[in-house]
Amino acid sequence: MTQAQRIDGKAMAAELSTKIVTETETLLRKHGLKPGLAVVIVGDDPASQVYVRNKKRTAESCGFYSVQHTLAASTSQDDVLKLIDELNSDISIHGILVQLPLPAHIDEQAITQAVSPGKDVDGFHLVNIGKLTTGDTAAAFVPCTPAGCMLMIEAHLGSDLSGLSAVVIGRSNIVGKPMASLLLRANATVTVTHSRTSDLAAVVRQADIVVAAVGRAKMVTGDWIKPGAIVIDVGINRLEITVDGETKTQLTGDVDFESVSAVAAAITPVPGGVGPMTIVMLMANTLRAARLAAGLDGQSGN
Ligand code: GUN
Repeated sequence: MTQAQRIDGKAMAAELSTKIVTETETLLRKHGLKPGLAVVIVGDDPASQVYVRNKKRTAESCGFYSVQHTLAASTSQDDVLKLIDELNSDISIHGILVQLPLPAHIDEQAITQAVSPGKDVDGFHLVNIGKLTTGDTAAAFVPCTPAGCMLMIEAHLGSDLSGLSAVVIGRSNIVGKPMASLLLRANATVTVTHSRTSDLAAVVRQADIVVAAVGRAKMVTGDWIKPGAIVIDVGINRLEITVDGETKTQLTGDVDFESVSAVAAAITPVPGGVGPMTIVMLMANTLRAARLAAGLDGQSGN
């Protein structure tokens, strides 16, 4: 049986990051400008700490100025808003990212809407969501995970998805909804499914493109997949497994890689698929924010 092509997100991200490094050097040399990224984390969620550390490390390896603000879980909403205000007016900072989830006493919407739309490298501000949903992707900051997924889909199928059917599993504001907007903009026929969808497997079986973003380990199995489909796995689930009597944590996607590989044409692995692409898209957004702040076009180039 033929096996699906493994879409190597790590390699694609490394290639993109090389371009970002070069463009960052040019920006510094020609315009004396260094992209600045501020990452804010509130509380001590272990997964968030890992993500934030990776984001800071990647920003530095791209040649960016990078700062991290680590706030106690008990920090008041007002204090978080005050910090965002300061970062909004700090000219050395071009991108602001507040890691989600936030502690329960903080209103996520109040925080994401406080970030200046021009520094909103997460693409969570309503101005950027509005631009994306109206199809103005050139002007919007697009959320990093769906932007990375879209690049992987385009690498496999090209940028025009006319005639193709796409099924997004999950309707979150971070992934599902912006993913649907991007696919629609690329002319795919898009269905967004969620926990209340009836006979999800039958819906997914119609899809040429499947994007799984539900947070349930190995939920999508080979019998759900149309032969020849491309499958993008956004899930990062931590499974406890026992190897030689030792308990270990295994990272697993929402897709059962083995059974889906036997049916699909292409599939992203976990880890090494969507994750590295998400981080590099954050760098691309930050570089673009810096260029825009300097009155440059925000596109790649000089
Ligand atoms: N938590 C999980 N994914 C994300 C993301 O893309 N951005 C932020 N800020 N928090 C997240």
